[in-house]
Amino acid sequence: MFFLPSAIRRPPSAVRHLPSDTVPTVYIETYGCQMNVSDSELMLGKLTAEGYESVDGPEGADVILVNTCAIRENAEQRVIGRLGELRRFMKKDTILGVTGCMAQRLGPKLLESNSRVSLVVGPDAYRALPHLIDGARRGERFTATDFDLEEHYEDFQARRFEGVKAWIPVQRGCDYRCTYCIVPYTRGPERSRQLADVVRETQEVVAQGLTEVVLLGQTVNSYTDGTHDFADLLRAVGAVPGIRRVRYTSPHPNDFSDRVIAAMAETETVCEHVHLPMQSGSSRTLKRMLRRYTREEYFACAARLRAAIPGLGLTTDIIVGFPGETDEEFDETITAAQEIGFDDAYMFKFSMRDGTPATRFPAELLVPDDVIDARFERLKATVRGIARERNMKRLGERREVLIEKEARKGGDLLQARSRDFKTVIVPGDPSMIGTYCTVELTGTTGSTFMGTPVQERAPLPMAAGG
Ligand code: 5AD
Ligand code: SF4
Repeated sequence: MFFLPSAIRRPPSAVRHLPSDTVPTVYIETYGCQMNVSDSELMLGKLTAEGYESVDGPEGADVILVNTCAIRENAEQRVIGRLGELRRFMKKDTILGVTGCMAQRLGPKLLESNSRVSLVVGPDAYRALPHLIDGARRGERFTATDFDLEEHYEDFQARRFEGVKAWIPVQRGCDYRCTYCIVPYTRGPERSRQLADVVRETQEVVAQGLTEVVLLGQTVNSYTDGTHDFADLLRAVGAVPGIRRVRYTSPHPNDFSDRVIAAMAETETVCEHVHLPMQSGSSRTLKRMLRRYTREEYFACAARLRAAIPGLGLTTDIIVGFPGETDEEFDETITAAQEIGFDDAYMFKFSMRDGTPATRFPAELLVPDDVIDARFERLKATVRGIARERNMKRLGERREVLIEKEARKGGDLLQARSRDFKTVIVPGDPSMIGTYCTVELTGTTGSTFMGTPVQERAPLPMAAGG
């Protein structure tokens, strides 16, 4: 089926009443980080505003977009495999586009290697999507990968996938140049949205019935719109009437000014959780990574945050097997994890990315795969052991949780999240999704908690003479 170009420009309200075969359909599949999820929501918002109908699967869709991640080799391999698989869902005239970081990184090579791909569109070029799709329908093939430092898609209405919390991008790109990381090359230089625009979007989110926002940026706490810093942003977003929870991800340890920590501590709606990527616990490895802090400075940052914010949940990212990582250096990562006591850690095996400074290390510095595998398993066991120990101590405590979705196990169980970022499984029915309740933590698998809803006790009457 060919869709009608005129239908594309109809406003969504008019389109809804057309017979479905005149309305072009679009399916977006998303890989990678929350920034990509947020970008997909923006793309879908733009395309539905232009008259497309969003569909949940690739079968028979008129347009399929695969929004990709380039952070590790295996993320890219998955997408390459998926592009092959998608062919069997495509009609003769389906337009297949690759967007996101892999599109930016590989550009026209993706058109050369896959004859069914007709669009390759990087993170700053989504505004052109409707136009590029029109061109693809005429048989043209495009690569659009210019950076646009002004682009924040302010006039796009995100079409949100989640009904409970909203991802709000506040910053695009990254000016750090960690030697392993492809992001500065796929997402370009750092730039921030205006505070007033972020606040306006937060107000819109509240008007749609959501009560939690997650502010997104590659080094989100380095946010600056020229007048306001991240402390101002936290306070302003946190004060929007109707907002109950503000989170953010991911900060850089070097950008935690006293102002930012104070804003976090003093703004009630900002949750007691920080995801603070450590990457390594060895100052020598950190130096080769160009992380711009030492082990001691990272420890100090974690301590400042914990001192200012009682009950803080602290999670991290760690890379294993960075070039030159010796057994001693790896041991320092293990002891750092033990001494800091993370609530959880995302652990990654180092993946060499073309074009990053790490490619210039001498080959003899590369850590063999079997060594990386063994270190990875050791770190995983360490992190899990620490988390289990910390979580066992929390049994019997109470938490306010936001019910997010049905639990994977099903069976009248719901998945909820505490302010300090604990996953809590609670009994209940789906009508409770989006509501808050207080639970007692009654059990733990080591990582996830089981919770029982409790009646909030009324405050005790003041004792005479108290
Ligand atoms: N190899 C492995 N992990 C990486 N990360 C970023 N680049 C690489 C790489 N080349 C990890 C970092 C970062 C997280 C999002 O992904 O830990 O914080
Ligand atoms: Fe990559 Fe480092 Fe920027 Fe994070 S701060 S996106 S790890 S370059």
